[in-house]
Amino acid sequence: MDKFTIVGGKALEGEVTISGAKNAALPIILGTMLTSEPVVLHNVPDLRDVQTCFKLLTMMGKSYERLSDNSYRITGKVTSNVATYELVKTMRASILALGPLTAYLGSAEVSLPGGCAIGARPVDLHVKGLKELGALFELSDGYIRSSTPDGKLHGGTILMDKVSVTGTENLMMAAALAEGTSVIENAAREPEIVDLAIFLRAMGAQVSGEGSDRIVIEGVPSLHGCEHSIVADRIETGTYLVAAMASHGQVTCLHALPQTLEPVIAKLRQANALIEISDDRIYLDMRGRDIKPVDIITAPHPGFPTDMQAQFMVLNAVASGSSSVTETIFENRFMHVPELIRMGAHLSINGNTVYCEGVPHLQGAQVMATDLRASASLVIAGLVAEGTTVVDRIYHMDRGYEHIERKIRALGGTIERISG
Ligand code: UD1
Repeated sequence: MDKFTIVGGKALEGEVTISGAKNAALPIILGTMLTSEPVVLHNVPDLRDVQTCFKLLTMMGKSYERLSDNSYRITGKVTSNVATYELVKTMRASILALGPLTAYLGSAEVSLPGGCAIGARPVDLHVKGLKELGALFELSDGYIRSSTPDGKLHGGTILMDKVSVTGTENLMMAAALAEGTSVIENAAREPEIVDLAIFLRAMGAQVSGEGSDRIVIEGVPSLHGCEHSIVADRIETGTYLVAAMASHGQVTCLHALPQTLEPVIAKLRQANALIEISDDRIYLDMRGRDIKPVDIITAPHPGFPTDMQAQFMVLNAVASGSSSVTETIFENRFMHVPELIRMGAHLSINGNTVYCEGVPHLQGAQVMATDLRASASLVIAGLVAEGTTVVDRIYHMDRGYEHIERKIRALGGTIERISG
């Protein structure tokens, strides 16, 4: 298993180009199953989860061609309705095949997902919503099997009991080809939902209300090919901003989308960062400035993103004073905490809150990555710590951060991948 060796203590300084968002690319790639016409996607990040989506497409009978580093043409027609355990277990977001397959073929067999081990992460909201659109379900041998009495879905009103990002995305894709009008109430409002709506509209879908908690979809009989560029990754952006900040450096994030990062930028400013924003770039300067502790409570968008919680924990760990971080979205999303404690952070967990007393320095140590964003926090901790840090099991990191070593090295950080 690959590891990172990081020698800490250098301020990160320079420019970093932000990649396309993993969480937008995954539903959009799987959403190409809704048409048999060619779709060209740009700004697709080169990530393991993205490759898993392409493998899923191939398994369903579609083909793809890489046009350049980040552009793909996807062609062909879905012929199989089965997403097997072998692929689904490596990526929880494979559940996003359920909506498009059920809408396009009238049935689907999707293995129950694996992926990041953060809490129970059920899929009941996906299933309940699709039932409202007329799908029937059975669960056997670890597979969710959907069917439709007349081979198609029918519009309906879905009230999501809890805000779910991939749940909303699955239902948007399913409703796009359902007969009649569908309304998703208490829909997720994340920027990746907005990007999916833009993509579906480019294919001829009639979607409105994305970005609010009520999305309305008028079903159409078929969708056509299109060209679409994936939105910038706000979590990758936030991760580099925190890394520069925690190391008392300065960074310019290029090709970013500042309006998708408002809660993160507000907290960085509260922590005493100097930040300047223009259309597609964010400049942060922390040279010669004290890091002030910030209290964080995660919430669905436009609240503070759970995917930035672990990175902010490192910032608080080296801030001057005490703070708390409360996680409200996922249980068991504090697996980075014991590892940060091994690096000298003063953290204590009480229920879904971590209390933090800032220390002047972290110390390098051997640590273990446990999920995607926890890995990001350990890399940042390694960059600011005194001495050498070895981060084991970085395959989690490869699921979500494009060219991470190259980008960190371009900012002056010392990081090496050790293959093994
Ligand atoms: C997505 C993101 C992930 C992010 C998360 C929250 C993708 C591929 N992943 O994950 O990076 O951390 O949103 O912003 O976009 N829930 C249920 N039943 C369900 C579905 C979800 O109870 O059927 C619960 C979950 O356990 C969790 C909460 O709802 O407590 C939110 O989860 P959800 O928004 O669905 O997360 P994902 O879409 O899996």
